[in-house]
Amino acid sequence: MKFQLASLISVLAATVSAHSWLECVDTDVSNLEAAKANPALDVQQTCKGFPRNKVSNGDWIQESKTYLWDLNNNAMNPDGLACRPSQTNTYPAGVPMTTAKPGQTLRLRHWGNGHSRYDMGSPLHRDPGVVRLYHAGKKETEIRSKSELNENNWVKGAQSNFSADAVIEVVGNKMNEKGNYFDWTIPSSLENGRHMFVWVWAWDMAVTSNPANFNPGTDYNNALMNSWTTCFDILIEGSSATGSTNTGSTVQPSSPVASSAPANNICASKTCLKGGMAAYTCTGSDCPACWYAAGDKYNCFDYKDGKCPFGGAYDCKKNLQTRGATRFERTPFE
Ligand SMILES: *[C@@H]1O[C@H](CO)[C@@H](O)[C@H](O)[C@H]1NC(C)=O
Repeated sequence: MKFQLASLISVLAATVSAHSWLECVDTDVSNLEAAKANPALDVQQTCKGFPRNKVSNGDWIQESKTYLWDLNNNAMNPDGLACRPSQTNTYPAGVPMTTAKPGQTLRLRHWGNGHSRYDMGSPLHRDPGVVRLYHAGKKETEIRSKSELNENNWVKGAQSNFSADAVIEVVGNKMNEKGNYFDWTIPSSLENGRHMFVWVWAWDMAVTSNPANFNPGTDYNNALMNSWTTCFDILIEGSSATGSTNTGSTVQPSSPVASSAPANNICASKTCLKGGMAAYTCTGSDCPACWYAAGDKYNCFDYKDGKCPFGGAYDCKKNLQTRGATRFERTPFE
């Protein structure tokens, strides 16, 4: 049965469009090193703390349809919400919330779904991207809008390559991703109580870029745009922190140059071609709001019906990376 499900998953992963979601917040894997060394082994894992409202837990097919959240899909998410509306702070019997202490390392597990390798899977030659976490900075506080999934609310350091820590069995030219993990240590600044988090897979390419001295281990990755989310809570116990806390990167003195800088720099100083026309250049804030990378140049367009006309724009008026182009839209400048 296990084997059949795994085969079915590989088949589906090859045919449906890309997606992933967080399966478990606190995963206990008893043979991770052995399974990495020998991916033919069954991974022995149990889940001790779950994401929100996992009513169909264990049913991969059902969750592919009713649990994942495609952040930039306008048809699915017209209001730009950070969480799927069914992912409220609800934990049915058998799929409890995570309880943990500051300083404890949690092993989060997400689905690879055929996207773990650049040289294999679907689509081919696409960077697997990163997974990362966001937190509003205090307990009992929701992140509601996808625009809040920004560097200010990023949990400093909580960012890892989508497949850096995975058990992947390769048979012929097919891969079976048996577990994709993301280890994260709970910061000591979190006080006792329930804390809401958003897990994100950032997979779409953003218009912004990373600074030259970008360190993937410690810096926020601006070059990737958030694509898929799952929301969860942790009940923090045994903390000595008091009052409101802030896990965000902006309060950390060690944080290097704010990495929203590349976008700000684009908006303030770069030249773009109005309407994509070579004869009409403008610079910085004299230009239309919606910027699109085009090779080493930028094209910029005015709003249409109050929005950037194509997916994947950097909106210089709002200073925000907007939604990605959907599969059926023109993707003019990728
Ligand atoms: C993730 O790791 C893969 C394999 O090492 C690499 O090709 C890819 O560029 C990495 N992506 C990011 C965003 O770090």
